[in-house]
Amino acid sequence: MKPTLVVFTGAGISAESGIKTFRDSDGLWEEFDINEVATPQAWEKNKALVLDFYNKRRKQILEAQPNKAHDALVELEEKYDVQIITQNIDDLHERAGSKKVLHLHGEITKSRSTVDPSLVYKIKNAEIRLGDKCEKGSQLRPHIVWFGEAVPMMDNAIIRVEKAAIFMVVGTSMAVYPAAGLIDYSPPQIPKYLIDPSDVKINGIANLTIIKEKASVGLPMLVKDLLK
Ligand code: APR
Repeated sequence: MKPTLVVFTGAGISAESGIKTFRDSDGLWEEFDINEVATPQAWEKNKALVLDFYNKRRKQILEAQPNKAHDALVELEEKYDVQIITQNIDDLHERAGSKKVLHLHGEITKSRSTVDPSLVYKIKNAEIRLGDKCEKGSQLRPHIVWFGEAVPMMDNAIIRVEKAAIFMVVGTSMAVYPAAGLIDYSPPQIPKYLIDPSDVKINGIANLTIIKEKASVGLPMLVKDLLK
């Protein structure tokens, strides 16, 4: 059996595909107010604005392509049982060819019923419009975990992290919980790697190697080493 390698990714891994991060100096949360577009209250207040925000994100994501960092994670599958746990709502890991991808914060390519969260649909024509309804007649919303909402995939993610033989963190500021707390569930004795061009605040983690590089540089190097 191949050893389990868990990779926790954030917006930084898709930055070089041309998708803006959230908290870098030109990030999305500089341009938009979280409270106006990414909370249940925002949805109650102005559905059209929220839909427009995510329709624009979706359009950009569909035009983007996976980069060398996404590709490198696919190569790792030769030797490892690779489980990606991503905070990203884009589908670039899947399009690169990664087989096991768990989305903690939802998926931009899907919509969801507002009366029954189990009704999730693949979005066909790239937009959700006011008046688009689920089979039970409720307005469709983006299949995204907003600030202030529970993270339904968290327990699932924890179970996988606890089984990791190697743990990697790529391109996340580790600022958003509960997601950022996942690393605390990784076994203390296993090797851990963090790839990010900035200094990420992370304390008390044993066996952590920090690679201060962009994902497209740091990840292919590390993958080459791990495949030796
Ligand atoms: N390669 C690797 N990392 C990069 C690159 C790059 N080319 N460019 C930027 N980064 C790093 C930044 O240094 C930063 O540490 O990516 C990280 C991006 O951090 P955030 O913008 O905070 O994104 P993320 O951590 O994914 O945000 C978490 O916040 O708004 C929510 O739900 C949203 O899932 C998101 C969550």
